[in-house]
Amino acid sequence: MVEQAYDLNRYQKSIFSESKNNINLRTEALAFDDVLLVPQYSEIESRANVNLNQNLDSNIKLKIPIISSPMDTVTEAPMVHAMHRAGGLGIIHRYNSIGEQTAVVRNVVAEGIRQPAAAIGVTGDFKERAMELVRSGVNILCLDIAHGHHILMERALKTLKDSYGKSIHLMAGNVATLGGFNDLADWGADSVRCGIGGGSICTTRIQTGHGLPGLATIFECARSDRDAKIIIDGGIKNSGDIVKALAAGADFIMLGSLLSGTDETPGEVFVGPSGGLLKDYRGMASAAAQNNWRNKVASHEGIISSVPYKGPVKEVLKELERGIRSGLSYSGANNLKELRLKAVFCKQSDASKYESTPHILAKV
Ligand code: IMP
Repeated sequence: MVEQAYDLNRYQKSIFSESKNNINLRTEALAFDDVLLVPQYSEIESRANVNLNQNLDSNIKLKIPIISSPMDTVTEAPMVHAMHRAGGLGIIHRYNSIGEQTAVVRNVVAEGIRQPAAAIGVTGDFKERAMELVRSGVNILCLDIAHGHHILMERALKTLKDSYGKSIHLMAGNVATLGGFNDLADWGADSVRCGIGGGSICTTRIQTGHGLPGLATIFECARSDRDAKIIIDGGIKNSGDIVKALAAGADFIMLGSLLSGTDETPGEVFVGPSGGLLKDYRGMASAAAQNNWRNKVASHEGIISSVPYKGPVKEVLKELERGIRSGLSYSGANNLKELRLKAVFCKQSDASKYESTPHILAKV
C-alpha cells in the first residue's frame, strides 16, 4: 500500500476547522489537479470489457455517464442526437421562447429519441414552459439556475413534483455543498448538478468570491444518504478529471467546454485571426448571452470565448471514453461501482503536478 494513500474518510471528517471569531473556515478544499489516483492491481484483460453503464433513475439508463450542458453554444437537436447515439444524454437549453424550445423537442422526438431532456428556469414562465415541454414529449426536466440552493428552487421543485410526481425526472442545480444537495433531493430533485464557479467560461468566483473546487464538491455531496444522483458540472478538462470525479463519487459528468467547437454545437465555424477554424463558446451568464436572450445584463458571471473547431463530437466522445475505460483499468475496476470502492487518492505536491504534465518541452 502506498504510504501517502489518501484517506477519504479522514479527509471528509477534517475539512471543517473550529469556528473561531465567527469565521467558518474550511481547512482544505481540493481541486482535480490536487490529486492523483494511485494505480491498483488489475485483472481487466480488455478495456472493451469495462462497463460504463449508469442509471439516472429506474427508467433512464445510459451507456456512458456523460451529459451535455444546457447552454446555447452546446445543446440543441444535433447534440441531443449525437449524445444519444454515443450512449449519453443531451439537455436542450432554455435560452429561447417556449415555441422555439418545444420545436427542438418535437424534432428530436420525431427522430426517435424516447427520453428527451430540456432545461427550464424557476421563475417567470417556468410552469408553462415545463407543461409545454412535457406535452411535446420531454420526460427529464432540468431546473437550471446558477445558485440552486435557494428558496425559489424549493418552490419550483415542490410545484413540479406535485404536478408530475414520478412521471418526470427532475434534475436541478447548481449546488456546491452537502446541505445544498440534501435540500434539493428533499425538495424533489432526482438528480443534482453539483459545482459552483468551476466552469471554463465562468467568472462567478471572481465576481462574487464564492465557489468550491469541483473535487471538494463531489467529496461533500458523496456523503449524502439521499438517493438523488450526483452530476458534477463545470471545470472538467480531460478524461483524467472524469475518472477522478467518478472515483470520488460523481454518478454523471456534465460537459460544456470539452464538447464545444464540435459540428453538433449551435453556431457557425469561422476563420480566426491566425487562419485556424473556430467556433464560439460562451457562458450563459456572460454579458453577450444575457443581451441575446433577455435584452439586458444583470451581474455577468461568464465570458465568451472562441474555441478551435473540433469536427464531429462522436470523435471527442470516443477519445474521452477510451481514457475513462483505461482509467478504470488502472484502478482494477470493471465498472463504476468498483471504481468507487477500489480508488485510492493521493495528494500531489507542486513537484508532482509538474511531473504529471508533459515536461520535455520545458527543456527546449
Ligand atoms: P465547462 O464544462 O467547464 O465549460 O463548464 C460548463 C458549466 O459551466 C455549465 O454546465 C454550467 O453549469 C456552467 N456555466 C455555464 N455558463 C456559465 C456562466 O456564464 N457562468 C458560470 N458558470 C456557467
